[in-house]
Parts: sequence; C-alpha cells; structure tokens
Amino acid sequence: MGEVVVVIGAGLIGQAIARRIGAGKKVILADLRQENADAAAEVFLNAGFDAEATTVDVSSRESVRALAQRSAGAGDVTGVINAAGVSPSQAPVSAILKVDLYGSAVVFEEFGEVIAPGGSALVIASQSGHRLPALTAEQDRLLATTPADALLALPFLSEDVVTDTLHAYQLAKRGNALRVRGEAVRWGERGATVNSISPGIVITPLARDELTGPRGAGYRRMLELSPAGRAGTPDEIGALGAFLMGETGRWITGSDFLIDGGVTASWYYGPLQPDA
Ligand SMILES: NC(=O)c1ccc[n+]([C@@H]2O[C@H](COP(=O)([O-])OP(=O)(O)OC[C@H]3O[C@@H](n4cnc5c(N)ncnc54)[C@H](O)[C@@H]3O)[C@@H](O)[C@H]2O)c1
Repeated sequence: MGEVVVVIGAGLIGQAIARRIGAGKKVILADLRQENADAAAEVFLNAGFDAEATTVDVSSRESVRALAQRSAGAGDVTGVINAAGVSPSQAPVSAILKVDLYGSAVVFEEFGEVIAPGGSALVIASQSGHRLPALTAEQDRLLATTPADALLALPFLSEDVVTDTLHAYQLAKRGNALRVRGEAVRWGERGATVNSISPGIVITPLARDELTGPRGAGYRRMLELSPAGRAGTPDEIGALGAFLMGETGRWITGSDFLIDGGVTASWYYGPLQPDA
C-alpha cells in the first residue's frame, strides 16, 4: 500500500495544499457536506490524482476516528490537512468553538494515533488569532494541552464569557496555533511534524461570505490599507503548506505561520491600527 494524504474540509485552501503534495498518493477528501467532498474529488480525479470523497464531522470524535481508521486502512497516512472551519458570519459561538477549536484538537488526537513516520499535519488557523490580546501563560498552556474532551469546559471559553462570534473565532484560531505546540511533542515521538498556518483574507466561498457579511466594509478597508493591498489566493497558502509538509519542512514543527499580506503588521504598527 502507498501513501495517503487526508484533506479534512475539502474547500479551496485544503485542495490547494493537497494538489501540491498529493501526486502519486491516495488523496482522501473529507467534508461535512458530501457534495463538497464529491466536487473536490471530481476536480482531483480529472487532474490525474488517485482521489476519493467521504464525509466527516470534525466536531464528532466518532466521525473523526472513523476517518482516521479508514485512512490508515488505505495506506501510510503521511499527510493530514485540517482545513475544516466555520467563520464568524456563518455560525454561532457554540458552533465556532465546537468546529474550529474542539474539532481541531480531536483531529490531532485521532490522527496522532495513525500518522506514519515522516508524516506531517497542518491546521488552517487564521490571522484573527493574532489579533486577540495576549492570554495569560496559564490560558495558553490550557489551550495547548487540555485533552480535547475537556477543552470546552474551560471557564474562559464559557458562553457567559465568549458572547461574540468574532471573539470565539479569535480564541479558536489562537487555540489552533497553541495546540500545535502541545501536539508537536507527541507527534515527534512518531517521527511526524505538526504546524498551523494563519492566513489573512484568502478568496474562497468562506471569505466571500465575510466580505459581503455584516463585517464586509471593515474587511474591504483592511485589504485596501494592507501592505500587499489585496487578498490572498488559495494557491499562495498551498505553496506554504507544501513547503511545510514536504522534505523542506522536516525541521519545522510546533510552529504557526502568519501569511496575510502584512495586514497584521499594519494592524499593530500601521494605518490599520484600531485607534489610528
Ligand atoms: N478564506 C479565508 O480568508 C480564510 C482566512 C483565514 C482562515 N481561514 C480558515 O481556512 C479554513 C478553510 O477555509 P476556506 O476558506 O477554504 O473555506 P471553505 O468554505 O472553502 O472550506 C471550509 C470547508 O469546511 C467544511 N466544514 C465546515 N464544518 C465542518 C465540519 N464540522 N466538519 C468537516 N468539514 C466542515 C465546509 O463544508 C467547507 O467545505 C477554515 O478553517 C477557515 O477558518 C480561511
């Protein structure tokens, strides 16, 4: 049996990474929505990949475990790309924390049991995680290391404290970037790496929902005033993902990579400063 690359959340970012690392391997495209997985698999099959579609719900451990077992049954799982997510305009606080925070932790726990030596995983976090003011050292440690099933019971994630979807998204994405530090230790014991990418606005259906949603004007201004002056493309995230998951990335683990056209830099030190 050969190598297997699993894409969880078969949207444009996950696909862009998988296209670059999936040649000659089995590419399993899994999504909450069967039609999204099928559409992605069709594109991959037409482009010569050995691809198959399936469903998964990252907010369900049973579902993620079943996918991990199916993947391991298909070959050596050398790549895991978790690009499943819901954005602040798409879902309530509880769903954002369940999918983007808890779901990501579950994916690392379950795929950490089947990842092959030399394998690597990525989770797609967000620039939003870089906007959140610093948490305490204890909160950082809890987000990095609390077992997934206890995560949502942490007091600072309770619905009394997190009342706004953007805050929930920021916490979830900060949580992803911290989680890879916690997991890098365990994955290292299997000879595998684990990292996160924090993109700025990358044009996909999710980003288009944001650009036309209640916060759209703010996002459009953000792009105009950013150093790069434009949104990113899924392929630019794909290139970074391929670097991290390929031979070039073997000394990189437990790290988060901000790729946002300089929006965060400008938000802290340039014209995008909140009180500028
Ligand atoms: N597009 C951007 O500007 C941007 C910026 C920063 C971060 N991100 C993050 O990148 C990731 C991928 O987003 P995208 O822009 O490719 O969006 P997308 O909408 O194209 O893809 C996201 C996919 O996740 C799937 N999904 C949602 N809930 C799921 C669940 N519970 N289980 C399994 N799959 C589920 C959706 O069905 C969808 O196919 C997300 O985590 C998002 O937060 C995107």
